[in-house]
Amino acid sequence: MAKTSTIFSCMKCGATHKKWAGRCDACGEWNSIAEEAPLAAGPSGKTLGGAKGRKVALGDLSEIDKPLPRIASGIAEFDRVLGGGMVPASAILVGGDPGIGKSTMLLQAAASFARAGKKAIYVSGEEAPSQIRMRAQRLGLSDAPVKLAAETNLRDVLTTLEEERPDVAIIDSVQTMWADHVDSAPGSVSQVRATAHELTTFAKRRGVSVILVGHVTKEGQIAGPRVVEHMVDTVLYFEGERGHQFRILRAVKNRFGPADEIGVFEMTGAGLQEVTNPSALFLSDRENPAPGSVVFAGMEGTRPVLVEIQALVAQSTLASPRRNVVGWDSSRLSMILAVLESRCGIGFGNMDVYLNVAGGMRISEPAADLAVAAALISARQDHAIAKDAVIFGEISLSGALRPISQAENRLKEAKKLGFSSAFAPSRMKLTNESGMKVATNNDVGDFIAACFGAIDA
Ligand code: TYD
Ligand code: MG
Repeated sequence: MAKTSTIFSCMKCGATHKKWAGRCDACGEWNSIAEEAPLAAGPSGKTLGGAKGRKVALGDLSEIDKPLPRIASGIAEFDRVLGGGMVPASAILVGGDPGIGKSTMLLQAAASFARAGKKAIYVSGEEAPSQIRMRAQRLGLSDAPVKLAAETNLRDVLTTLEEERPDVAIIDSVQTMWADHVDSAPGSVSQVRATAHELTTFAKRRGVSVILVGHVTKEGQIAGPRVVEHMVDTVLYFEGERGHQFRILRAVKNRFGPADEIGVFEMTGAGLQEVTNPSALFLSDRENPAPGSVVFAGMEGTRPVLVEIQALVAQSTLASPRRNVVGWDSSRLSMILAVLESRCGIGFGNMDVYLNVAGGMRISEPAADLAVAAALISARQDHAIAKDAVIFGEISLSGALRPISQAENRLKEAKKLGFSSAFAPSRMKLTNESGMKVATNNDVGDFIAACFGAIDA
């Protein structure tokens, strides 16, 4: 039998290497590689070799299964992100920065499940039961029949779950769990993998929905949720800027529902409150339109969301001027700046550029290109855009505006929030059901002329 030797794993992306290195080739992270003992046989199986396995049953594609009944938590924003509630026997990973509100949200969800007559167990490896009770009191959840445990030993947790057979089990967090058959510290790649593997297998075998909490780590001291993403059915990330009270729960992978769906919450003194109309919230503190401020009519999953994009352009004293971006992709910003420069002759060469998506929102849609371009030019020219206008459209490298999806939904949402006009790409089928005045253009140069008039380079 081949001798198993030590391997080295990246704490950030989980890539394995034959020898230690200062930088991971796979993800480029520095100082993230650590030595790992090879994975030994776990409680759920033996290492292969020798013994013969049993033949597994094979089925046909045409067999019809009943649609999976879902367990709704009653927290509409949480259920929406899951695609209409939790599917039994599924494993869900909830990742996010420490302190963002994962434990708070899941305690609220557990209480909600329990109040609806489901059996919910909340296992914390981070807090003592008294701390969790205190939090529950603060959230007004003390009367909910949730069962609590403070435990980090995976074997004991699994035995408990096996005997109790809850409908929902919450494990807070995978990084604190310790599997005794793996010879490395809790939080290491092998421990996190083994824990996630045992718990997802348990979920499938016993029909229990298991929710795993995973901290996102910047320092690489403990393994991030990345290393278990592929094992679970659903991956949700809890995002938000620390200084803001908004929190966004985003589905990045979902075997039982749409990905890209978001749920919006507000962190208050009494826990997380659902936000049913996020657009109103993201635009609520918009004063009179200042130069550099543009409202983008975006889509998050199936839901239209209006957000304000802000740009600031200032003369730079640096050899290579600053490009600071919050809430958007910085390489996309460079692309827009390059298109404006080479297709429209509008340069930003010796200027610092700051771009910010208001409210702690993060946009990944290319449809925001045109709104970003408008914000940049509006800031550069000190020319505010009409208060009642929203903007959307993708910009291609040629400067042409590309049609985007779901324009009608975006326009309807804008109308609902009191906007009356929009700038958009041409060649889109618009029924004008929304009653919005839509100005369409073929390329970004035409758009700039229509919106700002003539501009000197
Ligand atoms: P927590 O759920 O413990 O974060 P995580 O589990 O993701 O590490 O959230 C902790 C933060 O939330 C903490 O900074 C305090 C804040 N918070 C409130 O603002 N209101 C509340 O009702 C609760 C319970 C927490
Ligand atoms: Mg926590």
